[in-house]
Amino acid sequence: MSIKPQPTSLAVSGAEACEVVATAWPPGLSGRRVREKFPEFVQALEDQVMQLQKAPLSKASPVTLRQITADTVRIVALLDPGPEHDHLVAPNAFSIAQAHFHPEAWFRAVYADEVPVGFVMISNASQVPGKSLELHEGKPCVSLWRFMIDQRYRGLGYGSRALQLVVDHARTNTSAQRMLLSFVPAKNSPEPFYLRFGFARTGEIDDGEVVMALDLHPPLERNAR
Ligand SMILES: CC(C)(COP(=O)(O)OP(=O)(O)OC[C@H]1O[C@@H](n2cnc3c(N)ncnc32)[C@H](O)[C@@H]1OP(=O)(O)O)[C@@H](O)C(=O)NCCC(=O)NCCS
Repeated sequence: MSIKPQPTSLAVSGAEACEVVATAWPPGLSGRRVREKFPEFVQALEDQVMQLQKAPLSKASPVTLRQITADTVRIVALLDPGPEHDHLVAPNAFSIAQAHFHPEAWFRAVYADEVPVGFVMISNASQVPGKSLELHEGKPCVSLWRFMIDQRYRGLGYGSRALQLVVDHARTNTSAQRMLLSFVPAKNSPEPFYLRFGFARTGEIDDGEVVMALDLHPPLERNAR
């Protein structure tokens, strides 16, 4: 669900170029790059959002997951994890483009009140006709594929509440028993966030990323009433 570091130079050719294409995200797609290059365009879009948002955002703002539409795709693509975190997740524009060619992708914008603050995408094979959920240790599973909260809106609980909504969606709308994810074991990794949420390492490494899992239907505690 994350990205590999950008190559320091794109001046390559032949087989080396294939490797670069396979492992790097176009930096021009990052929300930050668009902000830097087209500040007036970005300001106009954000002014439109703020006309809908009457009160300042706070920890109490309601968090929802909403479908991305022709009206909102640009503002969601501009959300940015920030320079200290953008090696950990693909630009939203790239994820949204991919989602349209992966029938297993289920993706939503994260809203705090009326403001788009993040993006989430899961892989749910069972939404593809004729396919069933992948198995992990014999348990059907969905995978958290992309997840980010824009740097301006972090630390307000939006990430935890959005992830809870994703888990609720998987519990309610799929027969998955487990949610998997993987993260880049690099500076500012989100592992503490996922541990707090209840994910645990599986011990596997997938393409250099650390795999974690969350049981969606944990057995009831022995003494629970
Ligand atoms: C991971 C992420 C989605 C969390 O979103 P968030 O809205 O900041 O999370 P919350 O506010 O719900 O945080 C809940 C708790 O986890 C902690 N936490 C959140 N992100 C953390 C991180 N990267 N490292 C350590 N702790 C983190 C918060 O400090 C908070 O602790 P507190 O309750 O003691 O204050 C966000 O940090 C992010 O987008 N990171 C960059 C992209 C990324 O790494 N995505 C995941 C790819 S696998």
